[in-house]
Amino acid sequence: MKKAYIETYGCQMNVNDSEVIFSILKEAGYSRTEEISEADLIMANTCSVRDNAEQRIWGRIEAFNQARKGRRGVLVGIAGCMAERLKDKLLETGKVDLVVGPDAYRSLPRLLEAVSPDSPQIDVLLSRDETYSDIKPLRTDRNGVSAFISIMRGCNNVCSYCVVPYTRGAERSREPGSIVREACDVFSRGYREVTLLGQNVDSYLWKNERETVNFAELLRRVASVSPLLRVRFATSHPKDISDEVIETMAAHENICKHIHLPVQSGSTRMLEKMRRRYSREWYLERISKIRSLIPDCGITTDVIAGFCSETEQDHLDTLSLMEEVGFDWAFMFAYSERPGTLAAKQYPDDVPPEVKNRRLNEIIALQGRKSLERYRSWVGKRVRVLVEGPSKRNPDELCGRASNNMMCVFPSAGQKPGDYVELIVNDCTSATLICSAV
Ligand code: SAH
Ligand code: SF4
Ligand code: F3S
Repeated sequence: MKKAYIETYGCQMNVNDSEVIFSILKEAGYSRTEEISEADLIMANTCSVRDNAEQRIWGRIEAFNQARKGRRGVLVGIAGCMAERLKDKLLETGKVDLVVGPDAYRSLPRLLEAVSPDSPQIDVLLSRDETYSDIKPLRTDRNGVSAFISIMRGCNNVCSYCVVPYTRGAERSREPGSIVREACDVFSRGYREVTLLGQNVDSYLWKNERETVNFAELLRRVASVSPLLRVRFATSHPKDISDEVIETMAAHENICKHIHLPVQSGSTRMLEKMRRRYSREWYLERISKIRSLIPDCGITTDVIAGFCSETEQDHLDTLSLMEEVGFDWAFMFAYSERPGTLAAKQYPDDVPPEVKNRRLNEIIALQGRKSLERYRSWVGKRVRVLVEGPSKRNPDELCGRASNNMMCVFPSAGQKPGDYVELIVNDCTSATLICSAV
């Protein structure tokens, strides 16, 4: 049997896509390896969201070519968003033999039949209906406790800075029965947590002659698989997250109390320019709604510093919003212009790099203080944690997440991955709750 090695970059959807790719490759006679040196097929499943993400991949393409030196017939493949964005340009380097876009993974067996270093192959067709709903992902997680399930693909928003709608195509929702079956299947194999994935899960919508299923209804169905199966989801969009979704979370003990709600900016002027289709006030109202129905809800976000024409006042608006909300955690980025996006076509990328970086550093520093405050507010409280495995720092300790997504560490009393434990929080850092048995 031939062996395939895949490195995964970018978002959680890509992690799940690599599992779909492994499953398809298995049918084509490839088993999975984690050793690049023994692989017959070396792949990267890639991300285009910021320029530095792509620069990193170019470095890996060089490394893959080094790794295959002197080993005849070893193939290098690029999958994912960068494959979709750059298409033939990847083949033109002479360093890549196989290019396959996010909706074309089913053609891998056919491409692999035809491919050789003299005959590179490409399929980057986007689809209106591909959801890989019948493919059982070959799980690559290490702990066997927490699994990703894609519930939709693509994105119909056109945030002006974002390349995703171009690399992933139009939004489509996956048939709910296949999602629930996948959740049942992983549960029966010992998994205790599923994360439902989509670029904008709140716009999940599936219809046929008999029924219409929205995201809240899908959550209810997945939550009913078992009270022992935790349900998480990402990513929510502030313009679409409905009261019904928040109420559904509040009503189900096993739907985790965590919402990732990317704000991007605290300035309504910037949000309009970003085409996010909500205002600062709208965002803050959604936060109040969440906090009123789920007081302990973990809330995390994404922030972009230095978008086109951002003034010092716009930046201060972002800081004041972050101060006001008090996010548990944030992913924070300097704006990176992406070719082909509305912003690249219409607005100059005019915030100087040193200003962008200074603003980003101020955002990071503020979030560091806020994270510590948020984590400290849990000291003395009880948390219910799903054990994932040994802690990275200390093998005598175990780690796992609380419902609100905070990472917890605690002394092992022989619990196994997949067990639930009741803990008391004794101390914290800005990213970990330090706990012990109650
Ligand atoms: N679908 C999700 C996020 C997708 S991309 C959403 O709508 O929120 C993940 C994050 O990358 C975004 O939330 C944004 O903060 C960041 N991002 C996207 N494009 C970017 C760009 N051109 N420059 C910098 N950050 C970007
Ligand atoms: Fe990109 Fe906006 Fe779609 Fe998120 S919602 S993937 S930021 S276009
Ligand atoms: Fe990156 Fe594509 Fe995800 S651009 S963030 S891998 S959808």
